[in-house]
Amino acid sequence: MEFLYRVTGRGTRILSERCEGEELVLTGPLGRGFDIPPGARRIGLVAGGMGVAPLTYLARYCRERASGSIRITTYVGARTASALVGLEELSALSSEVVVTTDDGTYGTCGVVTAALEADMGDLCRDGVIFFACGPRAMMARLAECLIPAGVPCQVSLEERMACGLGACLGCAVAVRRGDGETYASVCKDGPVFPLAEVVWEGK
Ligand code: FES
Repeated sequence: MEFLYRVTGRGTRILSERCEGEELVLTGPLGRGFDIPPGARRIGLVAGGMGVAPLTYLARYCRERASGSIRITTYVGARTASALVGLEELSALSSEVVVTTDDGTYGTCGVVTAALEADMGDLCRDGVIFFACGPRAMMARLAECLIPAGVPCQVSLEERMACGLGACLGCAVAVRRGDGETYASVCKDGPVFPLAEVVWEGK
């Protein structure tokens, strides 16, 4: 079992201070993960920053279950070259990889969604299904690009969590259900949601 995380607060700092051989108690698996439709032939992975972690797992799963029959086109974006993590393994699992950095220190200069938009025609011809994880601004831009085009996409949301069980409501996000909007817990109802289900405006 492997974990990829960045120290951003007290919890991850405590984790980072554990020593080899120490025991940790885990509860899981929890929530709802990615769902690869049967018969998928081409998938697009869109990772921003630490979003590489769940998508590497997904790519590994595809390679183990479907061997070479799924073409995986991967887009990875980060602020700068030093913020790119896990690129080697994700590249090895992918059929092709496009990397962007905001400051141009690695790959193409710019945001990852711009690179993806440039390839949309080719991807859509193959009936691509997208899976994404990254900062909210990246996901909101994906929503603007993919939803009007009717391209399916599942997103894994990043939220701070406390209980992980749907009890504290600390990870609530606005979602569309039926004709209205309501709140869902990222830990229990997600972290994976259809892109079109999440309310991206106003946050
Ligand atoms: S972390 Fe408590 S409800 Fe999600």
